[in-house]
Amino acid sequence: MRNLIDIMELSVEELQQLIDCAMDIIANPAKYAEACHGKKLATLFFEPSTRTRLSFEAAMYELGGNVLGFSEAQSSSASKGESVSDTVRVVGCYADIIAMRHPKEGAPLVASRKAGIPVINAGDGGHNHPTQTLADLLTIYREKGRLTDMTVGLCGDLKFGRTVHSLVSAMSRYTGVKFVMISPEELRIPQYILTDVLDPKGIEYEEVTSLEDAMPRLDILYMTRVQRERFFNEADYVRLKDSYILTPEKLRTAKDDLCILHPLPRVNEISVAVDEDPRACYFKQALNGKYMRMALILKLLEVNV
Ligand code: CP
Repeated sequence: MRNLIDIMELSVEELQQLIDCAMDIIANPAKYAEACHGKKLATLFFEPSTRTRLSFEAAMYELGGNVLGFSEAQSSSASKGESVSDTVRVVGCYADIIAMRHPKEGAPLVASRKAGIPVINAGDGGHNHPTQTLADLLTIYREKGRLTDMTVGLCGDLKFGRTVHSLVSAMSRYTGVKFVMISPEELRIPQYILTDVLDPKGIEYEEVTSLEDAMPRLDILYMTRVQRERFFNEADYVRLKDSYILTPEKLRTAKDDLCILHPLPRVNEISVAVDEDPRACYFKQALNGKYMRMALILKLLEVNV
């Protein structure tokens, strides 16, 4: 039985199979409409979500399956003190697959050892968000036609931004990918990503503070929100929250085929004036998330279409 807790559990070949499956779903949705008939997805969200939870639910419905679950810890028996292990043991009696978001890093891993059914990490604290990376990869693939040979700029809260951690790990396996990490000093990418993921493979990266200076050399610009919910101190959040705001003016020096991504939700870090720029791909990215989650559900439930 397979789970998806960390994006590195999927080989490059498996990522390509998921992308190919998602592309086939896009081209032939009717072929998949009953693929999960009789199957149930449980969405266990102990933290808020719009895109991840609803795209998982839409994904299961579009595969002909059903959905049950909760969208906040307060409406589950976690509020009475039930452990994650006990919760998923019980949910494993009711559903065929679980998508779980939890504020504690490692909670989905613990769940995967107890559930008896496949568990998908839908975001654990400031750690990982592998299905967001699936959305990111499909978007880059559709926009660029490749996942190799590009300079990827990651901008904003690289410390707590779990989507960045998963994306860097995933893209570190494609040839010719370089990273430009753009952040305030306090929100630099965790050292383990540099020493454990990038350095052993000899992957080029720079850590800089200026988005404007980096802009001309980027093929991908991945903006992120400063993660208020992970700060211990509100004053630090307020000081750092508007460190980077992408505007049409700042894009004047960007490549014509730049692809602008953001996992969303955004707060201030991309001006709404950028939304009309053809290089803005973040709403397409949210849609792509649904297709990749459909492909992932099929894979983990071992459904062949
Ligand atoms: N990108 C993302 O995880 O969004 P939600 O928090 O709305 O699920």
